[in-house]
Amino acid sequence: MVLAAALFCVALAMLPSHTAVMSIDLGSEWMKMAIVKPGVPMEIVLNKESRRKTPTVVCLKENERLFGDSALGMSVKNPKTVFRHLQSILGKKYKNPQVALYQKQFPEHQLQEDPVRGTVYFKNSGELQFTPEELLGMMLNYSRGLAQDFAEQSIKDAVITVPAFFNQAERRAVLLAAQMAGLKVLQLINDNTAVALNYGVFRRKDIDNTAKNIMFYDMGSGSTTATIVTYQTVKTKESGIQPQLQIRGVGFDRGLGGFEMDLRLRDHLAKLFNEQKKSKKDVRENHRAMAKLLKEAQRLKTVLSANVDFMAQVEGLMDDIDFKAKVTRTEFEELCADLFKRVPGPVEDALSAAEMKLEEIEQVILVGGSTRVRKVQDVLLRAVGKEELGKNINADEAAAMGAVYQAAGLSKAFKVKPFLVRDAAVFPIQVEFNRETEEEGVKTVKYNKRILFQRMAPYPQRKVITFNRYNNDFEDPQNLPKI
Ligand SMILES: *[C@@H]1O[C@H](CO)[C@@H](O)[C@H](O)[C@H]1NC(C)=O
Repeated sequence: MVLAAALFCVALAMLPSHTAVMSIDLGSEWMKMAIVKPGVPMEIVLNKESRRKTPTVVCLKENERLFGDSALGMSVKNPKTVFRHLQSILGKKYKNPQVALYQKQFPEHQLQEDPVRGTVYFKNSGELQFTPEELLGMMLNYSRGLAQDFAEQSIKDAVITVPAFFNQAERRAVLLAAQMAGLKVLQLINDNTAVALNYGVFRRKDIDNTAKNIMFYDMGSGSTTATIVTYQTVKTKESGIQPQLQIRGVGFDRGLGGFEMDLRLRDHLAKLFNEQKKSKKDVRENHRAMAKLLKEAQRLKTVLSANVDFMAQVEGLMDDIDFKAKVTRTEFEELCADLFKRVPGPVEDALSAAEMKLEEIEQVILVGGSTRVRKVQDVLLRAVGKEELGKNINADEAAAMGAVYQAAGLSKAFKVKPFLVRDAAVFPIQVEFNRETEEEGVKTVKYNKRILFQRMAPYPQRKVITFNRYNNDFEDPQNLPKI
């Protein structure tokens, strides 16, 4: 990438050689890593199979751990040993509906309630138990290893992406996992902000003092987010005129994504197999067979983006019975009709959060693997009323590249051309505390609540509140380990 090379003025002198930094774009299905090291511009890390993305999967066998593609391969042989799609249960209490949904999607696993924290853990065979954070920690450690092999040096510093809608408990869960992997997290960056940064950095020359509004529509495996970003140059005290991006509005739909489509297709294939009556058993009760159908469903979804029909096939699906059935794109679209109806939702929410109208948005740009589904593009195009949808960024890698640019900027080892980022808090952030007061010798405890940041308030931003009559330290109310 010649363009990337020009962005960096790397200070080489007097620096130790272990200065590489990395980014991890942590998706619910895939993770992508990028590195930057002295003399080498931003680059996507190739994994052991020389692929640019790695399944976010870990397989725990008795004396062996497998990761990435090899772990995913085990999902059809021994689904009980394979853990994936952890994003939806990170930092969640046992009673959260997301936990019940996860349990339904992965019936081969047994989720239990942690008696102390109220969160969940996986109960494996015997005495083995793992929290989602531990499993994620193993994956992050693996991704760190891949990046180190690729960079040929040790790496500690990282910027990790999280969905913009992650709350504080979810963010802390990621930080905890990173700590287990020995990573020093320079920043957790919202993945939509990382995409916006990558877009801006490569279009620095086109940014001037006229504000331009761009919407990024990101449909991944587990969720969908629409983000409105304003690009403009601003005058700063320290370094004169600089380009800036500002997050103006965010809308999201948790659960709307490619994985739900895969599950619908899988269940459809299971129904077709049962109807063929080649076996007396219900295929839906066989975890291994269902894992095979899920794999085939994922292939089917991809093929149906280009073809109007396709013959799904699984050899030896169950009891050595082969399975074969034709599925058309129309059938697929009917199976997911309610999902496609939800496509415009995040756009409307982002507009209302930004208090903007569609006419003010110059371009709508597609991000995320699931925007390749044809129907998603059709519905979105109609909803935004533009002539076309922007496909001018690398939908898979933009977040990892934006995050590594941020990592280089935060590290002392690199000199990076400034690009100002004004993010926004998707949820209001409030503090709650009790205060003891004493009036005429009578002690009372008063419950207090203060909103520090309103919804869509810009950050980073420092807020100071003074506690005149408060002498004790605050306790962490969630009882989560301190980072
Ligand atoms: C982290 O990964 C390295 C290989 O890159 C491995 O040697 C080490 O044991 C792993 N650490 C943990 C805690 O799993």
